[in-house]
Amino acid sequence: MILSGKELSASMKAAMREQVADFPSRYGRVPHLVVILVGDDPASCSYVRGKAKASEEVGIKNTTITLESTTSQEKLLEIISGLNADDEVDGILVQLPLPGHIDESRIIEAIDHSKDVDGFHPLNVAALWNKQPCTVACTPLGIIRMLDAAGVEIAGKRAVVIGRSQIVGLPAAKLLLDRNATVTICHSRTKNLAEITRQAEILVVAIGRPRFVTADMVSPGAVVIDVGVNRDPETGKLCGDVDFAAIEPKASVITPVPGGVGPMTITCLLENTISCFLSKHKAL
Ligand code: GUN
Repeated sequence: MILSGKELSASMKAAMREQVADFPSRYGRVPHLVVILVGDDPASCSYVRGKAKASEEVGIKNTTITLESTTSQEKLLEIISGLNADDEVDGILVQLPLPGHIDESRIIEAIDHSKDVDGFHPLNVAALWNKQPCTVACTPLGIIRMLDAAGVEIAGKRAVVIGRSQIVGLPAAKLLLDRNATVTICHSRTKNLAEITRQAEILVVAIGRPRFVTADMVSPGAVVIDVGVNRDPETGKLCGDVDFAAIEPKASVITPVPGGVGPMTITCLLENTISCFLSKHKAL
C-alpha cells in the first residue's frame, strides 16, 4: 500500500477549512501565521511558498516576511519581538537554515513559545520529553498522523528511526515511544545498520541521502516512512532516502517522495497554527 501524504493532507485541510470558517463569528478573526524567510535559497523559497499556499487553502491568514541574506541578527530579533507582542499573530515560523552569521538557536529561543508553530523552542522540546502538552514539530507529527490514517498499530511494534536530528529523528522516536513502540535510533556511526533495520516493523528514514536504504535492509511486511527530500544525482528529480522501486513490493505500507511526508509537514504546520490560535482564545 502506498500511503499518500497528498491525499491525507487534502482531507485534513478540508476539515481544517470548515473549522476555520467558523472562527470569525466565534472568535472575531481567523488564525494568522507569519513566516520569515532570510535570503533566497531556492529550496527555502519553495517551502515558504508552499506554506503560504496551504494557509490560503484552509483560510488561515499568512504573512511572509522576506529579508535580505545580509539581514543582521539584531534586526531579525527586533522583528520577532514585534511579532511576539502582536496579539493578532498566532504563529511565527523562521525558515531554516539561516545565513551563517545568524545564530539559529538564539532566533528559535526568541520566538514566544506559545507562537512557536515549528515546535522547535526549548520549552516545547522540554514539554515533549516531559509528556506535557506542547507544540510538536510538524514532520514527526505528520508521520504519526500518517501511521494512524493507515491504521498501523504502533504499540508493541519494533520501530527503527534512522537519523537523530532535533527536528525529525529525535522527536519522531519520542512520539513512537509514547505510543508504546520499542524504538531504536540509528545514525551515521551505527554499526551493522542493515541488521538493525531488518528487525524494524516500522522504519522511519530521515538522513538526507538519496536511496540510502536498499531492499536488503527492509524485512517483508515492514511499514516504511521516507522523510528524505533529495535530488537524484543522475536524473536531478526529487527522490527519498529509500529505494522506493525496490522496496515498495516488499513493504506493507510505504510513503512516496514526493507526495508522502512532505505535504504532511505543511498540513501539520496548519494544524499547529490552529492549535496556537485556539489555546490563546480559549485562555481568554
Ligand atoms: N527547514 C527545513 N524544514 C524546516 C521546518 O520544518 N521548519 C523550519 N522553520 N525550517 C525548516
